[in-house]
Amino acid sequence: MRIRVDGDIVEDPLADQGDSLLAVLRRGGRTAPKAACGQGECGACTVLLGDRAVMSCVVLAAGVDAEVTTAAGLGADDLREAFADHVAFQCGFCTPGQIVRAEAVLREGVHRTREEIVRAMAGNVCRCTGYVQIVDAIVATMEKRRAEEPECDRR
Ligand code: FES
Ligand code: FES
Repeated sequence: MRIRVDGDIVEDPLADQGDSLLAVLRRGGRTAPKAACGQGECGACTVLLGDRAVMSCVVLAAGVDAEVTTAAGLGADDLREAFADHVAFQCGFCTPGQIVRAEAVLREGVHRTREEIVRAMAGNVCRCTGYVQIVDAIVATMEKRRAEEPECDRR
């Protein structure tokens, strides 16, 4: 099995048809997506599949037909800086998934309310419960990107 990940090819000759994308990524040394619940309920394994944020533990690797982007290949330096500035992580286990989901949400649009951000991030659980700081970081990044938009896009 071959999957394009963060601009490289991950090959997994041992992959089984029933393997999840998360299993193939982690066997291939892509450890930014974390293995936690394994059933699509926590978001620790979130990656982009094309432009879409997905929980890679419930995606069949055999069906992947688009580039996969993990937190390691995402870029989004402004969002990372905002997470650091707002101390939006404690143990850091959920952070790669939070950042990938947040970047997908911001790419969909930077004209949202705080409540809409909270709703959009609801599938990503933080067992350290630092939700306020996570949303603060995303909102700060959204406001920064909004301010950088060309004036004609702001209406
Ligand atoms: S490990 Fe995939 S959603 Fe929890
Ligand atoms: S920072 Fe520890 S799980 Fe979120």
